[in-house]
Amino acid sequence: MNTEIVSAVRAGLACSGSEADDSSQTGATALVRAESSEGCAKAIKLLREGEAVALPTETVYGLAADALNPDAVAKIFEAKERPRFDPLIVHLPKREALDEIAIAESQLARDLIENFWPGPLTIIFRKRDIVPDIVTAGLETVAVRMSAHPVFREVVSAVNRPLAAPSANRFGRVSPTTAQHVLDELEGRIPLIVDGGATEHGIESTIVRIVDGVIEVSRWGPITEEILHQFGEVRERRSTSMIIAPGQLPTHYAPKTRLIMIKRLQDFSAMPGKRTGALSLSPAAGTGDPGSPRPTATTTTADFAAVRYLSERGDLREAAANLFRMLRELDAENLDLIVAERVPEKGIGAAINDRLERALNRCTD
Ligand code: TXA
Ligand code: MG
Repeated sequence: MNTEIVSAVRAGLACSGSEADDSSQTGATALVRAESSEGCAKAIKLLREGEAVALPTETVYGLAADALNPDAVAKIFEAKERPRFDPLIVHLPKREALDEIAIAESQLARDLIENFWPGPLTIIFRKRDIVPDIVTAGLETVAVRMSAHPVFREVVSAVNRPLAAPSANRFGRVSPTTAQHVLDELEGRIPLIVDGGATEHGIESTIVRIVDGVIEVSRWGPITEEILHQFGEVRERRSTSMIIAPGQLPTHYAPKTRLIMIKRLQDFSAMPGKRTGALSLSPAAGTGDPGSPRPTATTTTADFAAVRYLSERGDLREAAANLFRMLRELDAENLDLIVAERVPEKGIGAAINDRLERALNRCTD
């Protein structure tokens, strides 16, 4: 199967149907820019026909299909090689569509929707019968969100159906934050990728559910604990012994190269003859004082075959946006080991550390 890329000029650009088509063919992969006449129209047509299509969201790229069409949803599982027991997030065309697929009784949930939709917050509700079992892996609940990305919004509004869309990577791999990442993961497996540039947040949405009036978080993301606290009590949902959601499994976000996580990069002793890569928040990170330079220590950046700083100025939002791209870059450097330094646990830093922890174990696929 051929894979096409439809490019938007920059992140945040919605589709346009007015300009000339500048699609090109490179090997098995056709490239069609979003601002071309084909733009999102092709995605809309394919989704209506029950195909799975990759689209940008403000978090990471998603692989979307009509959530109410089980055959279409099955194509997502096939392309990703995702086990059927792992449920998908459903993306709404508009807020009012929530009541068609879920039972949203909690006022607190309604407050969160009011404040964060469209945006990077996924909320788990009791599902209605209309949602096929394949979407929820047979669960009585459904995870729902509404993307704020203009390209995604335009497509889902035109299709006017809820779209199931997990991250557009093969199962067990790092989520894609550019169309090229999607291509690397799914080339030949899906008919179309719509390119909206690099995604804004770079990590997946925060996932919550309301339990007894408390906001329970099962995945940290761009909507942080500090933000959620303004709406009520927040607690982390502890995974039960029966793990049914590989998003909570330790290997879910793994690069191929072995990765370890340490508190301070300068405490790491490089192994002679081994190619080691370093991932750190900024040149000044890990010193205890964000303003001070790295102390002269046993390890300097010269000891590493490759170094990536998530944000030169130590900005955690920028760091999150760069995280998966830099993990992919280090993964491509033929390293024996990646040493990642913990980032401060505040704000979105908690989500960054969470994704690094999940990457600790090598993935086997
Ligand atoms: O930002 C995002 O959320 C991206 C974009 C594309 O929307 N999507 C995403 O989907 O990260 P995915 O499938 O890669 O991660 C969704 C997580 C999985 O860990 C899944 O197990 C969990 O949500 N999940 C989905 N439905 C659930 C449910 N009913 N109960 C508990 N967990 C659920
Ligand atoms: Mg995923």
